Amino acid sequence: MTLQATEIKGSEQEVLVKNLFEQQYKFSAEIVCHAPGRVNLIGDHTDYNDGFVLPAAINYGTTIAASAREDDLVRVYAHDCDQQINEFSLSDITFESQIMWSNYVRGTLQALMKMYPEIKGANLVVTGNVPQGAGLSSSASFEIALLKTFTQLYHLTLNGVNAALIGQQAENDFVGCNCGIMDQLISALGQQGSAMLLDCKDLSFEDVPIPDNLALLIVNSNVKRGLVDSEYNLRRQQCEAVAKYFGVSSLREITLTQLNANKEQIESVLFKRARHVISENERVVNTLKALKINDMATISTVMKASHNSLRDDFDVSTKEMDGLVDMVAKVIGIKGGVRMTGGGFGGCVVALVPTELVTDVIETVNCNYENSFGLKPSIYHCTATQGAFR
Ligand code: GLA
Repeated sequence: MTLQATEIKGSEQEVLVKNLFEQQYKFSAEIVCHAPGRVNLIGDHTDYNDGFVLPAAINYGTTIAASAREDDLVRVYAHDCDQQINEFSLSDITFESQIMWSNYVRGTLQALMKMYPEIKGANLVVTGNVPQGAGLSSSASFEIALLKTFTQLYHLTLNGVNAALIGQQAENDFVGCNCGIMDQLISALGQQGSAMLLDCKDLSFEDVPIPDNLALLIVNSNVKRGLVDSEYNLRRQQCEAVAKYFGVSSLREITLTQLNANKEQIESVLFKRARHVISENERVVNTLKALKINDMATISTVMKASHNSLRDDFDVSTKEMDGLVDMVAKVIGIKGGVRMTGGGFGGCVVALVPTELVTDVIETVNCNYENSFGLKPSIYHCTATQGAFR
């Protein structure tokens, strides 16, 4: 069985950042913090519509070694980004147009300082193994790892929900992506062995154990996502336009019956976007019920319907992701579920696979994907892990 990801175990990442920190700063790090990436089992493009999502934190994440400083300087060594070093002062945080990754640090700390203006600077070393641009939330895991780091360095009382809101604020107000709350919240508050049903309307959540007989497989199509932020922000605007048409705060307040009754009055693209969101909320609830009783036939049907809706109504799939879904579905049939996951426009598919079929799925993907699409797939056999603030 080939696992093509660079799977560095949590403890190995910890040793790596500690060593790198000593090389960079010539003294030992005070602390090491980690936050996971995530995979979403079902419920995509529902979070910013006050809807339901069902993500799990995964055993790939971002790890930071740090020490406090007495001045306002933040000095960051990013091991995976060409080993770049970037420095800025907390008293003068500006957008850095040359070094994109630095804006996640800048935006997160600017948002954090609205709650905790007293924090001082830090020396940081960052490394991570969440594949970037794959829809597995490398940026949210970076933001949450950073917030955990400052929480520990400066003994802040920050909790997981507030950390998630600060991470989201960094994306919305500083980086320029109008994302929802799902990625940051699961990275902060995920539970080992479980997915999380999150109600994005009031941020209440429930841990949902993933049955032991199911493996969590992620296949990266390795199509680099293009135009992500602009297309993503456009989808959000389209959803908001339909909510506005109905005079409600979000699509969560609308039923499919109401939507259908207004079909003639709503522009067809907007109608399809809204139909995806409203039907996807129902699918999340149905998946939750099915997971609790290990009803794989329902999970299979509902995940397929989610994929088709993201492909046809929300227009965020790609031919490569569609191809992967078909390949995996042929092996697992109604014994498991598979769909594209995350924001779309490239990235990964997620599959819940009975453990006895994992090898078959991996072999099928390895034999067929490159032949069909000319790209090598990457396959990650994941486990659901604990969030940084849990
Ligand atoms: C991205 C965003 C999330 C969510 C997903 C789609 O990952 O960051 O907030 O909207 O896309 O479900």
